[in-house]
Amino acid sequence: MRIAVTGSIATDHLMTFPGRIVDQLLPDQLQHLSLSFLADDLVVRRGGVAANIAVGLGRFGLNPLLVGAAGFDFAEYEQWLHASGVDTELVRVSRNLHTARFVCTTDADQNQIATFYPGAMTEAREITLAGAARRLGGLSLVVVAPNDPQAMLRHTDECRRLGIPFAADPSQQLARLSGHEVRQLVSGARLLFTNRYEAALLAERTGWTEGDVLEQVGAWITTAGADGVTVATKERPTVRVRAVPSAAPVDPTGVGDAFRAGFLAGTAWNWPYEQAARLGCALATVVLESVGAQDYGLALPLLTDLIRRTYGSSAAAEIESLFTCAD
Ligand SMILES: Nc1ncnc2c1ncn2[C@@H]1O[C@H](COP(=O)(O)OP(=O)(O)OP(=O)(O)O)[C@@H](O)[C@H]1O
Ligand SMILES: [Mg+2]
Repeated sequence: MRIAVTGSIATDHLMTFPGRIVDQLLPDQLQHLSLSFLADDLVVRRGGVAANIAVGLGRFGLNPLLVGAAGFDFAEYEQWLHASGVDTELVRVSRNLHTARFVCTTDADQNQIATFYPGAMTEAREITLAGAARRLGGLSLVVVAPNDPQAMLRHTDECRRLGIPFAADPSQQLARLSGHEVRQLVSGARLLFTNRYEAALLAERTGWTEGDVLEQVGAWITTAGADGVTVATKERPTVRVRAVPSAAPVDPTGVGDAFRAGFLAGTAWNWPYEQAARLGCALATVVLESVGAQDYGLALPLLTDLIRRTYGSSAAAEIESLFTCAD
């Protein structure tokens, strides 16, 4: 059975302004601010949380279904996704809106002015999963990643109604969800993903203790940047996995999504949580050492080498044998 990844599909348009933004601000003219920066560099990167996670799963050969809304400009991005092993049949393509876009200008001080336009993403709330689940003979897991908040609630409700296991990944959308909404997104999830900050925000929003959260979910996976990850469950002691150290970090964009892709691939192959988290950490480091969230090559020998150097030879041998079983 296949994994469906719901969430945002977006592109990042990143420009560099060689001067200093603060030098352009006239304190006594701020009430009619009108500024334009002459940028000397533009990079367009493919992103969106669901697309990032789906590309990781696609490169592992899991042929995930990407579920989200994109704009009428989606054709080129779609070709890239197909080449990465992602099924886009369930992407809703808007007739009159652009794909969600993040536009950011960074200056010589690393100060930034940015705008996020959700565009077609608001149409994600129109998508239903039932038809696809029926046609495909069921879905093994639906990932509910950051998206139009109405869509996140709808996908979660549908999973509960249809009895499809789901992974709650509210991430940055936690900031704009009410306690009631967060409880709705998390209750009954097989997996819950947060980073350390989001874990605290989730507790604050819901009023739940860690024990309360673990009554609601199968496993709670919390990432802590270079400090690694914990996997907490109600039944067993918390599993702690070190991060894979990076000798040459380049760009942290998409590390959280890469971790999820590796972890979800491991769980799709029924690996124990510890091995799945190690694979997630290794893939996160590969992405940390590349520019952008999707422009990396996935070579199994490189992943097992990173795992060997961090967790030792027997851990690497174990993962190599698990890969062989997954083929
Ligand atoms: N500096 C680092 N060195 C090694 N591994 C890292 C580093 N930063 C992140 N990682 C890896 O990536 C995983 C996710 O990182 P983190 O907890 O920063 O996620 P996040 O805050 O959700 O990131 P994102 O900005 O992508 O949303 C970590 O568990 C770790 O495996
Ligand atoms: Mg994150």
